[in-house]
Amino acid sequence: MTDQTPYRVTVLAGDGVGPEVTAAAQSVVDGCAERFGFSVEWQPLLAGGVAIDEYGSALRDEDLDACAASDAVLLGAVGGPRWDDPQASVRPEQALFALRRGLGLFANLRPVVGDPTLLDASPLRPERVRGVDLLIVRELTGGLYFGDRSESRSADGGRAAVDTLPYTEAEIRRIVRLAFQLARGRRGRLTSVDKANVLATSRLWRTVATELGGQFRDVILEHRLVDSFAMQLITHPAAFDVVVTENLFGDILSDEASVLTGSLGMLPSGSLGERRTRHGLFGLYEPVHGSAPDIAGQNVANPIGAIRSAVMMLRWSFDRNDAANALEDAVRATLAAGLRTADLVRDRTTQPVGTREFAEAVRQRLLMSGTPIRATREGAHA
Ligand code: IPM
Ligand code: MG
Repeated sequence: MTDQTPYRVTVLAGDGVGPEVTAAAQSVVDGCAERFGFSVEWQPLLAGGVAIDEYGSALRDEDLDACAASDAVLLGAVGGPRWDDPQASVRPEQALFALRRGLGLFANLRPVVGDPTLLDASPLRPERVRGVDLLIVRELTGGLYFGDRSESRSADGGRAAVDTLPYTEAEIRRIVRLAFQLARGRRGRLTSVDKANVLATSRLWRTVATELGGQFRDVILEHRLVDSFAMQLITHPAAFDVVVTENLFGDILSDEASVLTGSLGMLPSGSLGERRTRHGLFGLYEPVHGSAPDIAGQNVANPIGAIRSAVMMLRWSFDRNDAANALEDAVRATLAAGLRTADLVRDRTTQPVGTREFAEAVRQRLLMSGTPIRATREGAHA
């Protein structure tokens, strides 16, 4: 029996196009709520540059606590030229790190799925991108991002800086195990990406992954060095299923993978930990793209990355596969009907639609495509 209490979602719309794409995602989730008969309580809070302006900190402790008390977090994007000073002690990205670490979100899932109607939007030849369906599983709370660093050293009379890359066996094991489980539910192939010919942490990573492979004999595990994998991702993107890797490699490779499908604006992400709520697994969902300050406030941003992040939220944190599937279908149908935001338009004859118009078209399709379950409950079909 599913829990009937409302889903509580903290919304951190953030900076730049964040508020526009987040509003789009909320509107389609509200459409799902209407069609499938559930309710969502949205709690908007400030994070990123807007929080720095208002409170002097990218994310206040009490707002992190509020995120932790909800069922899921929906995030837009943070950052922008106004807060870009690398010397500043307060920076918008600190909100992301506080959320990732503070909420224990060690697994970042970035699915990259080509849409058959968008093959021409990819910089690669259509025959290369056809059939691309991969899932990047990026470790999110360890490695270089959270290792000790020092920016104020000197060596031989010159300036020097140090970053460190720590990983424990336990950190590696939990992310690789999740990747094996996900591969099991997909096409049964797992590619573990490392730099084991150079880095000690990568050698530990490879050892732990190989050991875990013994428990997942139904999954084919292969190891790739990151430089060679970066190349294969362009030459044979359709050959990969689940890809698991450490924090920095995952950051770089997921941006590389994102252009395969046409636009960075298409890609969703979900960051998960181990905490279960009464509804599902707690998670934070955000489009892979950034705040895109150059197009902010113009109603032109592609909302698909944010909407697909909401699809992931419906699946993982709400345990609502019915609504997730319906929303995914509605996005696909909207694209198939020829609606495109400006980033996806490659010819002069197609007139782009705005962020709000695209989202509204998705919402309409969602509502049209099914009978509200209320009607069934009241015996309309009896
Ligand atoms: C991402 C982003 C962040 C990261 C930046 C904004 C700090 O690139 O989520 O991929 O490097 O993790
Ligand atoms: Mg990145």
